[in-house]
Amino acid sequence: MPRVLLLLVPVLLLSACDVPAYDYYVDAKPIIDANCVTCHQDGNIGPFALTTYDEVKTVAELLPPSIEADTMPPWGANPECNDYLHDSSLTAQDKEILLTWLDQGVAPGDPTTAVKADEVEPMTFDLTLPLPEPYTPNGQLDDYRCILVDWPLEEAKYAVGFGVTPDRTDLVHHVVAYIADPSIKDALEELDASDPGLGYSCFGAPTPQDTPGVIGLGVDQRWLGQWAPGPTGRPFPPGTGILIEPGSTMIVQMHYNTATADPSPDQSSFEVQLADEVDKPATVIPFLDFGWALGSVPMTIPAGAADAVITHEQDISNSTLDWFAGTIGLENGDPFVVQEVFFHMHTLGAAGRLDHKRVANPTSDDQCLLDLPRWDFNWQNSYQLQEPRRVDPGDTLQIECRFDNSDGGSEVGFGDGTFDEMCLAILYVTGI
Ligand code: HEC
Repeated sequence: MPRVLLLLVPVLLLSACDVPAYDYYVDAKPIIDANCVTCHQDGNIGPFALTTYDEVKTVAELLPPSIEADTMPPWGANPECNDYLHDSSLTAQDKEILLTWLDQGVAPGDPTTAVKADEVEPMTFDLTLPLPEPYTPNGQLDDYRCILVDWPLEEAKYAVGFGVTPDRTDLVHHVVAYIADPSIKDALEELDASDPGLGYSCFGAPTPQDTPGVIGLGVDQRWLGQWAPGPTGRPFPPGTGILIEPGSTMIVQMHYNTATADPSPDQSSFEVQLADEVDKPATVIPFLDFGWALGSVPMTIPAGAADAVITHEQDISNSTLDWFAGTIGLENGDPFVVQEVFFHMHTLGAAGRLDHKRVANPTSDDQCLLDLPRWDFNWQNSYQLQEPRRVDPGDTLQIECRFDNSDGGSEVGFGDGTFDEMCLAILYVTGI
């Protein structure tokens, strides 16, 4: 071929395709740094590191399926249902860039042109509370441990943000903290004493269902906040906060996972942002069929069922609102506002959904509040609605839980053990 033609070939090839040629340092690295490396670095819970070109290249073939299916970064909410604050999923544009770059053969580019990811300001907190002493996970792949921490403040304050500083980042998979009222302090101490070592074993709920002297979630113990690897913490929905009385006890549920590290002592801390006053005091309302928890209504997942669907629809303003939200001044018959939704099932959970039905006001549309098309027990987020949703008396909420028990030889019902299931939404609500 004449020399001039040889020179033309690459030019023709380039102009033939209008997809931009992406490279690592300019295009892929800033996206990976901002969205993946908090977990995918040595000493953290991601199963491999993604901090350098060589590390990414080694696992490049593994990445597209998780990016395409939106399973990484772990977020979970279907974007067609609603919009949320602090959404950690990849934007459509970032997805397109990463997938194209991976498909084009992971060109490195020039390290001197490297683009830095936007720095995220770490949150600051007013109070840091470490676990009272180090705890060593029990050696199972997953250890769920509830550890009691005394609330040290002598006057009532609102919690307006929650975070965790994990000590062993390679072991701490997630943390949920609950506030327990002073009235159940003794009962909790007995529970703690009944299980050797620091804290007690707890899988689904902060206290086992039949703990003497304890009523349960939403009444004498309330959800405060949850944390999973990623950002250090999150503020609660703007203008809202949860009152914490002096003499309260924090029940800190630690989930340790030993997939990437051997059990060794961990003394993580949790952190709270505080305020003397808030515009709208908030509280949490568990939404489920209480008959399931009381045993009067069966929640049955048949043996071998591949897609067992459990639903419950209720107007809570008409029934249990005063019971759960009396502390923030709500009475039955009042409207209320759902600010944030946290969903809970166990390991047979496959998908979950919560809808608001505008029965009382047919001129306004029904609204999907949360849709989790692929439930993952390991990644339980709370989802803050970008537009908090007002629920009027007469309206209903409807929860739907889908379970896959196709490998299970026995029927499964409602309970808080490892072999039981749950189906509930935990609503963070305020008055209007
Ligand atoms: C919040 C922590 C976290 C973030 C952020 C994160 N990962 Fe992961 N990733 C994990 C953990 C932990 C696993 C192990 C499996 C599991 O627990 O889901 C994992 C597993 C994977 C896997 C193996 C396949 C699988 O689904 O098990 C791939 C591929 C992956 N991550 C890619 C990514 C990419 C690409 C990003 C960024 C776009 C990312 N991850 C962001 C924590 C994270």
